[in-house]
Amino acid sequence: MKNTTYKVKKSDEYLTKAKEVIPGGIFGHYKYAIRESGPKFFSKSEGAYFWDLDDNRYVDLMCGYGPSILGYNHPEVEEAYKVSADKGNTVSVASPVMVDLASKLVEMVDIADWALFGKNGGDATSLAVMIAREFTGKKKIIKIDDGYHGVAPWMQEKNRPGIITSDSEHVLKVKWNDSEALEQLLQKHGSDIACFISSPYDHPVSRDNSLAEEGYWKKVTALCKKYEVLTIVDDVRAGFRINLKGSNVAFAFSPDMICFGKAIANGHPLASLVGTNDLKKAAERVYFTGTQFFSAPPMAAAIATLNELEKADAPSVLIQYGKKLNSRLEKVASDKGFNLISSGIPSMPYYRLEGVTFETHIKWIDECVKRGVYMLAYHNHFISLAHSEEDIDFIEGAAKQAFENL
Ligand SMILES: Cc1ncc(COP(=O)(O)O)c(C=O)c1O
Repeated sequence: MKNTTYKVKKSDEYLTKAKEVIPGGIFGHYKYAIRESGPKFFSKSEGAYFWDLDDNRYVDLMCGYGPSILGYNHPEVEEAYKVSADKGNTVSVASPVMVDLASKLVEMVDIADWALFGKNGGDATSLAVMIAREFTGKKKIIKIDDGYHGVAPWMQEKNRPGIITSDSEHVLKVKWNDSEALEQLLQKHGSDIACFISSPYDHPVSRDNSLAEEGYWKKVTALCKKYEVLTIVDDVRAGFRINLKGSNVAFAFSPDMICFGKAIANGHPLASLVGTNDLKKAAERVYFTGTQFFSAPPMAAAIATLNELEKADAPSVLIQYGKKLNSRLEKVASDKGFNLISSGIPSMPYYRLEGVTFETHIKWIDECVKRGVYMLAYHNHFISLAHSEEDIDFIEGAAKQAFENL
């Protein structure tokens, strides 16, 4: 592998243009990923790769922040999308494909007796909370300290621009893996708590990710049952990368509702909330909708995606691949005198260089990106089924040169 680095001149020119017509040029979570030496816009994508405006190819370890689980432009998914789109997209009545997708989720996901749909993960989490409030007649929500569930005002920190204190007045926070603290909170507010919402394991930004300790989820679900509090698993990020029946199955517990998004339609805009029969009536009463919610092609794409994931036994393949990638990167790091820590589920690894400053870690990531491996310093990464053995070799080569240039 030649030790040359990418130029991103066209990306930079486009960013200048973007700043004239878009506040900040690039907004939302994409804004935080902008690095001087990195790509800002893509020109095309295929399988495990995207190309930037300067025609540099990147092995993509972010997968669009999760959606690309089969790889970009997957033939079966795109064909299903096209066949559906030829019949109509958002039409004045629903498509039967919506019923077929709900049936697929009910058949596939352990706890699912019904499914509802939205566009983004935040639709599913907001809807879940509303259903919990309607079902229990209680108003407070317990979430994990820095657990992320989207951008609706109730989910944002009080000091964020545009947010007022009362937006999250009924949101209580508890430390991850701390069932005693949860019990104390339930003792104090239990009669007013509608739900406990959490991802299946802790995957915060800029920190090592942390799996559930032995017995944690068992204790949580028992406590929630005791205080008549619903358990909501936010599987928007980890969904389909741990267990196709729901990530909760891997941690041996049963929540009342599960939120899916990101990977469900391999990049086509769709989210889903699934739940148990007990909640079906409450789910029927809650009003939650959107003009684009009934768009049929993303639902057809989702059915194709889920079928492909089942055929491939995707979670175990992705986890195996992630384990191999982690150990190869850890070895390269140690050969070069660094200590690379991989945390979280291997199909969604978070990397951190131990014993150096965060700036050095960021520099290592920048050096990898400049050599064609798209990574982020502060976020967990994502593996897709399109990532190959050759890609591991390529990533390893780039990572080695990146260490040599620190
Ligand atoms: C765990 C989790 N929940 C919810 C969301 C929100 O999903 P979306 O950005 O699709 O609204 C995200 C997005 O990153 C997430 O990671």
